[in-house]
Amino acid sequence: MALERLYLDYNATSPLSTSVVNWLRSGDVLFANPSSQHSDGKAARKSVNEARSEIFKTFHKNEKDNRLFFHSGATEAIHTFAYSFSETARLAGKDLLICYSRVDHPAVVSLEEKFFGSHVKFLELKRDKNLHYLHQENYEILKDKKDNNPDLIILYHHLWVHNETGQVTPLEELAFFKAIPDLYLHVDAVQSPGKIPEWRELSHGDIWTFSAHKFGALKGIGFSFFKSSLSFHPLIMGGAQQGNLRSGTENVQGIKSIALALKDLTLVDVTKNSLQRKKLVSFLKEELKGIGDLIDEERMCSNTVYFYLNNLSSDIALALFDVNGLEISAGSACSSGAARPSAVLMQMGQDKVSKNGLRLSMAFSIIEEDLNKIQSMMRPIFNKLRNS
Ligand SMILES: Cc1ncc(COP(=O)(O)O)c(C=O)c1O
Repeated sequence: MALERLYLDYNATSPLSTSVVNWLRSGDVLFANPSSQHSDGKAARKSVNEARSEIFKTFHKNEKDNRLFFHSGATEAIHTFAYSFSETARLAGKDLLICYSRVDHPAVVSLEEKFFGSHVKFLELKRDKNLHYLHQENYEILKDKKDNNPDLIILYHHLWVHNETGQVTPLEELAFFKAIPDLYLHVDAVQSPGKIPEWRELSHGDIWTFSAHKFGALKGIGFSFFKSSLSFHPLIMGGAQQGNLRSGTENVQGIKSIALALKDLTLVDVTKNSLQRKKLVSFLKEELKGIGDLIDEERMCSNTVYFYLNNLSSDIALALFDVNGLEISAGSACSSGAARPSAVLMQMGQDKVSKNGLRLSMAFSIIEEDLNKIQSMMRPIFNKLRNS
């Protein structure tokens, strides 16, 4: 009998949502270039426009105050806005400070390796050992920098739902930063859809970025909202297909898949999923006694559990889980290969186990049967580890 397999790596990429699968199966997938002026091109443009309207509606945003554009995913968007702000600052003869935290997604952390110009500096936001942002301290540092350089522009990256741990830092906590003039908040909302009750409430930010493959739509497509009042300089230029925001032929199927997947997500019962997650956390707490531990606190998203084993690096643990039918992940979403020290565990002062972090990220609808399956497939692995 074939081994049963459970996919528990939704934070890396989620399977396609039901509506997306049904639509692809129907074969009614528009292929024409939406910039073309013939009938098929116009049908493709209509599909893009309808999807745009749906996305605005889903997130309660209006087209007057916000701009929306599609890109290849959050990595591109993060680099696009860093570039855009660096250009805005350069053209105005000002300095730009990009703020991020060490445990942000590598797409953000890697910005520091890029040379945008000598007018661009970086500041690492402080977090404590529980990974909580030290907002007050960060605020004082930023205020001081602004007081000393009134022309300074600040681009502040905020990770709403942590991709590895599932920890949530509510957007309301950022409100007081807006008292600093010329400070702009880029909210990395990649892991929020369908995983926190307030995922459609895009408050307090200036920019919000999403990747479609994290919530049941196709890969290679994402979107960002930003306030119309922001000046913008595109990273990718060419045929100006999306006005002056991002060039390149629009990914019509990808865009339609976003609208379909978001519609499915609005049916997700996040509160119910969170209760199921709690059951899994209780199970793991018990099973990990003496052989590891997990990260848990009050504000966690509904699908993610992050844990580590004391004496087994994540690459070996992953193989062990995999041969037992459980597809989980190590470290940051989308990374692969040999175990590397996890920035999360290092930040927590857990240097000894820093290569041992494991993440399990579940579906958008966690039913009792799946939960029981996960537990019964995990139990023998933990038994083996306890007795080895
Ligand atoms: C929180 C977060 N931000 C950004 C990204 C980058 O997204 P993408 O790989 O789709 O460009 C990811 C992907 O894992 C993520 O989880």
